[in-house]
Amino acid sequence: MSAPAPFRTRDLGALARLGITCLCLVLLGGFAASVSHLYIHDHKRDERPGLTIDDVKGVYHGVKSRSPLLVALEGGHPETIDAQERSALLDWLNGGRVNEQYDDFDKGDMAPAEIIARECVSCHNRASTDPSGIGQRMPLDSWDAVRVVAFSRDIQPNSLAIVVNSTHTHALAIGTLCLIVAGLGVGTRLPRPIINPLIALMGLGLLADIGGWWLTRMKADFAYMIVAGGAAFCLGSTLLLVLIIVDLWWPRKAPGA
Ligand code: HEC
Repeated sequence: MSAPAPFRTRDLGALARLGITCLCLVLLGGFAASVSHLYIHDHKRDERPGLTIDDVKGVYHGVKSRSPLLVALEGGHPETIDAQERSALLDWLNGGRVNEQYDDFDKGDMAPAEIIARECVSCHNRASTDPSGIGQRMPLDSWDAVRVVAFSRDIQPNSLAIVVNSTHTHALAIGTLCLIVAGLGVGTRLPRPIINPLIALMGLGLLADIGGWWLTRMKADFAYMIVAGGAAFCLGSTLLLVLIIVDLWWPRKAPGA
């Protein structure tokens, strides 16, 4: 006598499968919203465009770095600039209004934008053929280019209370949710060699992501673990949900076939 056939979600009635399908779609929408929330909420942390690894480090570890322009000017670069211009640039970079004062009309020739155009752009422009490649590496020919290197940063990480609170809500809610998604995955007719690795990816990803929040507090480079974990989690859970939905509606083999 053969063992009874295992339960498959495909065996449920059409209305139950409709309900589960809708819930899976809601989860997919929720994941998409989480990703855009991350982008909208955290990508400005480092005052530089785009969501970068420094944003993640900023949120979970904090980032301190001095403006590269400040460092170069203090170090005596470029030798060609006169003392008055150098101190005007240093005052600008050390002041709190780097953005507003860049093109300060009242300063006339001594406005930072004017000094940079006079003293820096001849080498620091994208068309420069200087063999050091400095023109391509660090152009200073527009505010968009200058702002990338003008700000000193002292980004405070999220407080301990926020990380505890975020762990508490995310770990419990998403952890529970993933157990259910894993269970639904096991209930499909798909081959185990497809389902099992996806469940592993989802679980390991979530653990690495949330665990990474805490490790990054101690050491900034664990930010890469957060990103890799988050990506693995998104990939695993999204594929699982899609496969679960497909399996719910894929025709059954005719009995005896
Ligand atoms: C005569 C050409 C020239 C001028 C003028 C010049 N630079 Fe440079 N700058 C260079 C070169 C070449 C390097 C690369 C040096 C190196 O790699 O060791 C450099 C490097 C730098 C760096 C560091 C880049 C890095 O990769 O860390 C900064 C910041 C910088 N310059 C800012 C300025 C500013 C601000 C001005 C104007 C006030 C200026 N430079 C004027 C040629 C110039």
